[in-house]
Amino acid sequence: MKNVLIAYWSGTGNTELMAKQLAKGVEEGGAKATVKTAGGVTPDMVKAAEALAFGCPAMGAEVLEESEMEPFIGSLTQAELGGKTLGLFGSYDWGDGQWMRDWEERMKGLGANVESEGLITQLVPDEAVLAKCLELGKKLAK
Ligand SMILES: Cc1cc2nc3c(=O)[nH]c(=O)nc-3n(C[C@H](O)[C@H](O)[C@H](O)COP(=O)(O)O)c2cc1C
Repeated sequence: MKNVLIAYWSGTGNTELMAKQLAKGVEEGGAKATVKTAGGVTPDMVKAAEALAFGCPAMGAEVLEESEMEPFIGSLTQAELGGKTLGLFGSYDWGDGQWMRDWEERMKGLGANVESEGLITQLVPDEAVLAKCLELGKKLAK
């Protein structure tokens, strides 16, 4: 069975809601979802997964969360990401999504096939966003 790794960081639960919905989509799509917070993920786990989803809200000034998510993302190389389908997602508040655009470019630079536009939402994901998360999960399961 295909293994999809969902690695995320969430301070107040908004990005976590998206991660859980993605996992539901992966399972409904017939694959196995492994859901982890970023601090517990090693490059080897990324390498072993057949498809990936990473989630993080906009933090600092339009950057990834710096104690767990940034070190995790910074540890990845082409060896883990090259050729893999990757969905990115996360919540923001007052910005315009710059953190996600930067993140996408960074992941593409390491050879990941970033699936569609990063899935972003202002604060709490509404029904429409949760439906998109479910869809992305199903896509990653294929
Ligand atoms: C320390 C801190 C920095 C933040 N920086 C940004 C930012 O640069 N741009 C933005 O749009 N939102 C920013 N936010 C808002 C969060 O992205 C937003 O509250 C988001 O919904 C949090 O997601 P979470 O519930 O998954 O932690 C920041 C929030 C905090 C606490």
